[in-house]
Amino acid sequence: MTKILMVCLGNICRSPLAHGILESKLPDETFYIDSAGTSYFHIGEQPNARSIETARRHGIDITHQRARQFDVSDFDTFDYIYVMDQSNYQDVVDLARDENDTLKIKLILDEIPNSSIKNVPDPYNGDNQDFEKVYQMLEEACEHIVKKLR
Ligand code: 4NP
Repeated sequence: MTKILMVCLGNICRSPLAHGILESKLPDETFYIDSAGTSYFHIGEQPNARSIETARRHGIDITHQRARQFDVSDFDTFDYIYVMDQSNYQDVVDLARDENDTLKIKLILDEIPNSSIKNVPDPYNGDNQDFEKVYQMLEEACEHIVKKLR
């Protein structure tokens, strides 16, 4: 079983989308996908309504997801930890216990060859179009992740 964790700040906007998109592209017999936030702000909450709606428009149901906070034990559970932006990267790196932990953490957009954009923008204070833009970025990144894993 290959285990992959998607991480953002709140675990209600970006990482739930990344979680749903990647899960939809990989067989659940051999891949376990989850997501978490670096903050405690939204623990227990459903994804943001606009993330739910954006995913639904693309045929992906993320309504069963609930926000949780990243825990240091996630370094033991997961093989790959994809963060949405450099702030998330710093927050997760700060929790790493050793080089092995640090090497698991990657900026998700770095999976897109020659991507000029490093950070998935936080759409929390944006509109539906911002959520769709985030979806498209994550869709492209997840396609490359799937290619790499195959
Ligand atoms: P996310 O978006 O990190 O993509 O889930 C955010 C959600 C909530 C907050 C910030 C970002 N917040 O500050 O409450």
